[in-house]
Amino acid sequence: MLRFAVFVSGGGTNLQALIDAVQEGTINGEIGLVVSNRKAAYGLERARNAGIKAECIKDEDLLIQRLAEEKIDFIVLAGYLAIISERLISLYPNKIMNIHPSLIPSFCGPGYYGIHVHEKVLARGVKVSGATVHFVSEVVDGGPIILQKAVDIVECETAEEIQTKILHEAEHTILPEAVRLYCNGKVKVENERVHIL
Ligand code: GRF
Repeated sequence: MLRFAVFVSGGGTNLQALIDAVQEGTINGEIGLVVSNRKAAYGLERARNAGIKAECIKDEDLLIQRLAEEKIDFIVLAGYLAIISERLISLYPNKIMNIHPSLIPSFCGPGYYGIHVHEKVLARGVKVSGATVHFVSEVVDGGPIILQKAVDIVECETAEEIQTKILHEAEHTILPEAVRLYCNGKVKVENERVHIL
């Protein structure tokens, strides 16, 4: 059974979706560690409530040490706002997944995170947005795409409404599904493209 770490910086609703999927047996994997760069991140509380090791770690050497100690096979970024270094990426090549709240390659890259993504989406007036799970590479939001889900946002009048709809209708579904597939050995990367077996 693969062991994975989840990195959070905020409320952790995506983390909660992963915790629930593991507890229901949908994900055949184990959350070995939850890490945040912010001590106050509610995601840490969610992990503790589920009996999962939860640590605020800001130093990269300590982070790498803890990942090794916990025998972590892969990492999931679920609303993690600190930079992932090339060093960490090289230690976990195509083994770090990220959930981004838009349909990459739209509305992504430097500066596009959290509510800012949805503010740009609203301003542009697009009718459909969504979420993407992708592997992390040296290019921000540029790694191989694993899963995507589109969401109709025509009725949404604020960035917050868009954010909520995409969280509930896309993110909380495709992130656990991507982890489930990965734990079952169904995710293969060839020439920077992901094939679901
Ligand atoms: C989500 O919108 C995710 O797409 C983005 O950060 C937010 C995290 O939300 N990367 P939560 O902390 O999982 O509720």
